[in-house]
Amino acid sequence: MKILFINACVREKSRTLAYARKYLENADGDITEIVLQNENILPLDKARLEKRDRLLAENKTDDEMLRYARQFAQADEIVIAAPYWDLGFPALLKIYIEAISVSGITFTYERNIPKGLCKAKRLVYITTAGGRIYADFGYNYVKMLAQTMYGIRDTKCIYAENLDVECIPCEKVTELVRFKEKE
Ligand SMILES: Cc1cc2nc3c(=O)[nH]c(=O)nc-3n(C[C@H](O)[C@H](O)[C@H](O)COP(=O)(O)O)c2cc1C
Repeated sequence: MKILFINACVREKSRTLAYARKYLENADGDITEIVLQNENILPLDKARLEKRDRLLAENKTDDEMLRYARQFAQADEIVIAAPYWDLGFPALLKIYIEAISVSGITFTYERNIPKGLCKAKRLVYITTAGGRIYADFGYNYVKMLAQTMYGIRDTKCIYAENLDVECIPCEKVTELVRFKEKE
C-alpha cells in the first residue's frame, strides 16, 4: 500500500509533526513524504495557469508541472499533517492543493458534477492548535475537497487543542496529550 504523507508543518519543533510521526510508525505501507516547505511549489499566477491549461488542452499530463497531482491520484492513503493557523492551515498547503486539483488527473466532470479520480480510500488529517478550534476551516475544507472532488469518501481528523495555553513542548506531546478524533 502506498501512503502519501503531506507534511505541511513549519516549525522546527512541530508538535503536529511529532504526533504524525508517531501515527505513521503504526501505519502499514510504504510511506512517501513530501515536506512542503522544501518543495518550493509555486502558486498559480497568470503565466503558470496558462501553462497548465495549455498542457491539459494538449493532453500532456506527464509534464513535470503535474507530477504532484499524478502522485496524489495514485496513492492508496493520504496523511496530511498541518498546524492550525489562522483558523485553517499554512498557505503552503493551499499552494499544494492548487497543484493537485487538476481536472483530468485527480478529478473530472460528469454531467457538470465533479467525479473523483483518486485511488485513495482514506485521508487522515492531523493538526494541533494553540487554543480551541472554534471554527475549523482547515480540516473541513480538506474534507470537502476529498469527498466532493477527489472521490475520497473516508476522511478523519486527529487533533489536539490548547497546546500553547498548556505550554506542551514538542518532546512531550505524544505522552502528555490525548489526541481526539472526528470524521
Ligand atoms: C502563523 C500562526 C497562526 C496561528 N493561528 C492560530 C489560530 O488561529 N488559533 C489557535 O488556536 N492557534 C493558532 N496558532 C498556534 C498554533 O496552532 C499552535 O502553536 C500549534 O500547536 C502549532 O503547531 P506546531 O507545533 O506543529 O507548529 C498559530 C500559530 C502560528 C505560528
